[in-house]
Amino acid sequence: MTRIALDNMVALVTGAGGMIGGAVARRMTAGGAKVALADRRAPEATNESSRSYAADLSDPEQVRELVDTVLKDFGRIDCLVTAAGVTSLGSFESISVEEWDRVHAINLRGAFLINQAVIAAMKAQQFGRIVNIGSVLAKNGGNPRPWLDATEQGRAGNAAYGAAKAGVHALTLYLAKELAVHGITVNAVAPGPIASPMTTSFPEALIRQIPAGRLGQPKEVAAMVAWLCARENAFVTGEIIDVNGGLWMD
Ligand SMILES: NC(=O)c1ccc[n+]([C@@H]2O[C@H](COP(=O)([O-])OP(=O)(O)OC[C@H]3O[C@@H](n4cnc5c(N)ncnc54)[C@H](O)[C@@H]3O)[C@@H](O)[C@H]2O)c1
Repeated sequence: MTRIALDNMVALVTGAGGMIGGAVARRMTAGGAKVALADRRAPEATNESSRSYAADLSDPEQVRELVDTVLKDFGRIDCLVTAAGVTSLGSFESISVEEWDRVHAINLRGAFLINQAVIAAMKAQQFGRIVNIGSVLAKNGGNPRPWLDATEQGRAGNAAYGAAKAGVHALTLYLAKELAVHGITVNAVAPGPIASPMTTSFPEALIRQIPAGRLGQPKEVAAMVAWLCARENAFVTGEIIDVNGGLWMD
């Protein structure tokens, strides 16, 4: 593993109990960062300089309290990585209003809340790295060929999820402009299908359409996140970076 220096940085990673967030937390720890791991249930700490927190990140008060506690415990937040999220499958017609709201509550409102909550501290430091986890599904409309096999749409249709992630991409671009003068970069990583509980029912036929011929690994997403968080990467901002084995190119 190429070592990206993150020494003495404090990173807050949401969804750190999950596959991608967990890999990000380990990668950041390996790079020398102190990591605050947040999830619905406090995840396992990555080493003695990391700490774990339980919070529902769709709840404004819990998000505020989380950020205040992390600032009290570590004194600063240099990097925010937002990997908390839920998936949602099914055809567009089958999406209920409740399901639409459930997905948006964490995937988009949750990202908005935590991005907003760290800004004051990062501005005071005149330094910050925000990396939001977006998705290829915000770009490509999901399942590329529902007309060939309608059953794939039930297993790969993802409109509520894709719409929420498109919102994450948009807020990333917006915030990148607003915060650039404060030494804060804001980028998103848009993974393709990554081996995790979210993709257990991912159709084999769709995996074959990935030029790399396989699902991605959480550590491959984490490597890009760590790169974006490095101190020297100060001039990359407002990018939505694909990590998808060639599935989508733009
Ligand atoms: N796995 C993929 O193929 C893939 C592809 C593109 C994007 N993503 C995105 O990457 C991120 C991580 O996904 P993953 O594959 O690691 O999934 P995962 O299910 O392993 O991890 C998601 C984590 O988010 C947490 N979470 C959900 N709702 C929460 C809430 N309200 N408050 C606090 N924590 C909450 C879950 O508890 C879980 O630990 C998600 O945003 C997902 O949308 C995943």
